[in-house]
Amino acid sequence: MSGCCDPSGYRRFFNSKEAARAARSYRKRGLDGTAGPMVGALEPVLDGVTVLEGGSGSGSAHVEMLRRGAGRAVSVDISDAYEPIADAIAADHGVADRIDRFVGDFVTMELPDADVVFLNRVVCCYPDMEGMVDAAARRSRRMVALSYPREPLVHQDGSPPRQSLPAVQERAVQRLRARPRGHRAPARVGRVRTSRGR
Ligand SMILES: C[S@@+](CC[C@H](N)C(=O)[O-])C[C@H]1O[C@@H](n2cnc3c(N)ncnc32)[C@H](O)[C@@H]1O
Repeated sequence: MSGCCDPSGYRRFFNSKEAARAARSYRKRGLDGTAGPMVGALEPVLDGVTVLEGGSGSGSAHVEMLRRGAGRAVSVDISDAYEPIADAIAADHGVADRIDRFVGDFVTMELPDADVVFLNRVVCCYPDMEGMVDAAARRSRRMVALSYPREPLVHQDGSPPRQSLPAVQERAVQRLRARPRGHRAPARVGRVRTSRGR
């Protein structure tokens, strides 16, 4: 059975209905309980930076980062269903000309490096979490902000994922530390307490 963690299920789960729901929620209540605290924690370092958001959905998180000082954003989502909504949200807030948007796989496609790489509720959707964390760290000049569920994951067919959730964070830190000396700042871990996203 396919689910949102199954690449063949992306379009089925992350469809125009889900995109419209996400846009309504953002327009009514602002960022959700995960994105809000993450963007809030980044705010002090956003001035003029470039942001790369993987699995950006409706785009509300990078739109907020642009509103709070970031210079430019690149967004990528594997589902094209969000495109019209993400364009509309960016236009509503007058930041559309500072966003480059792509449809594709964040892990495998060619994307520019950025100061801040942002992944909210995405690593848990992808079968190769390690690959996704590596791709994020590789493209980050300064920071990676990522969220993952506190509860253990179980796929819809009942099988556990290949990687444990604490390993996601561990992997991110290792990969950030492994980057060339002098080129990028050493990795430090900060945690942000979030509420459930919906
Ligand atoms: C649960 S949604 C979260 C959307 C948005 N980050 C948010 O918090 O509202 C997961 C998103 O990640 C996207 N996604 C999953 N794997 C991806 C990948 N490998 N590359 C790009 N996007 C991906 C899905 O299409 C979906 O839009």
